[in-house]
Amino acid sequence: MISSIYFAVLCNSNSDEGKVYQRLKTASVHILSVCYSISDYEHRPARSVPAAVLGIWRKTIASSQIMRFQNVILARKNVASGAGYSSINSSQHSGGAMNIGFIGLGRMGFPLAKSLIKNGETVTVYDLNIDAAKKLEKDGATVAGNIPELCKSSDLIFTMLPGPPQVKAVALGENGIIANMKADAIYIDMSTVDVDTVDMLREEFTNKGIAFGDAPVGRLAMHADRGESLFMLGIDEKHYSRVEPILLKMGTTIYHCGKAGDGTRTKLINNMMVLCYCQINSEALVLAKALGLDLKNTFDVLTNTTASNGQLKQKWPQKVLKGDLTPGFDIALGYKDISLASNAGAASRIALPLCDITKNIFRMALAAENSGKDTSCITDFWAETNGVDKPRL
Ligand SMILES: NC(=O)c1ccc[n+]([C@@H]2O[C@H](COP(=O)([O-])OP(=O)(O)OC[C@H]3O[C@@H](n4cnc5c(N)ncnc54)[C@H](O)[C@@H]3O)[C@@H](O)[C@H]2O)c1
Repeated sequence: MISSIYFAVLCNSNSDEGKVYQRLKTASVHILSVCYSISDYEHRPARSVPAAVLGIWRKTIASSQIMRFQNVILARKNVASGAGYSSINSSQHSGGAMNIGFIGLGRMGFPLAKSLIKNGETVTVYDLNIDAAKKLEKDGATVAGNIPELCKSSDLIFTMLPGPPQVKAVALGENGIIANMKADAIYIDMSTVDVDTVDMLREEFTNKGIAFGDAPVGRLAMHADRGESLFMLGIDEKHYSRVEPILLKMGTTIYHCGKAGDGTRTKLINNMMVLCYCQINSEALVLAKALGLDLKNTFDVLTNTTASNGQLKQKWPQKVLKGDLTPGFDIALGYKDISLASNAGAASRIALPLCDITKNIFRMALAAENSGKDTSCITDFWAETNGVDKPRL
């Protein structure tokens, strides 16, 4: 009964969490049918079966992951009801309003920082590109002249930078975050970096007694524009509640992956898959052109069978298939990410053949003057390489 009540509440949400619970619900049906088969097999009375399922559900619901989803749903309900985070809110957790510092206002950082401002947070921003910072000033941000100035006023600092070299320079450099941030502030890196870099950051900040976490971002740039990002958060349990309500002002979904560094590890695996799909999508579409198929028909089939993948279904029609190659997800960042995953495989002595092939294809596409384009330009590169017309819908 307890589990049914949880389901009734949780499956009500239209959110991703709702979908997760829907899946858990489906899983419970499977568990139920397995239990019933066991009961048939063992000739046990069927009424012992619900008790078995309830036991499984009690165990599941007690897990911290489920508790976490409950928190996310609770926070989202506060947003939806305009309650201003009365139950979970940054002021309550920090004992006062938090000033937020945001460094890196590119394709992803700009909309994320803008969402914070739109949702009532006090935000100080910094970027090497002063124009990006000035644009946000119009929305209500304070522009810092340098990183120390930003650190002075910030209780929670985010970085959203291209990759490891920039993050190390900004976080650990002489005039960087570590040398200037307040002792009781928290630093969260949202950039996609490698395992060694994030572990180095954790060690350096922890040694100085400063709270550090990583929260690389999932989903597409268009989701960041709509405040619908997903965060793979790695942070100690004791700091989670201070960061959660702020992340939920930039996105809809948080997965607490574990300690600082586990967000990055999860993100590398995620992006390895995303970027390998760039190549498999491209091979499939170019083959369809070469075979003289109607591309719309092929596209519909591929996105409605088990061949379906989110990149092909959601991103391709909006980008390369309509000839829009502006990034989105810049191919140089894609190459960086697939290289990070490949290096992680090498360091762990794991063979990742498709990952490594895809990495080299990205390298070739970059060399063929595709820099500055969206990762979906791999399809055009692959078409050109094979002398086939570029696939367009
Ligand atoms: N674009 C996507 O779809 C996407 C999605 C998820 C995650 N990511 C990751 O997010 C991160 C940022 O991606 P993006 O697309 O916003 O990149 P971007 O190149 O558009 O933006 C990076 C920003 O950082 C600024 N910057 C660089 N060095 C700096 C420094 N030393 N000090 C201050 N500012 C500096 C740049 O001026 C730029 O505005 C990357 O790690 C990327 O892999 C990107």
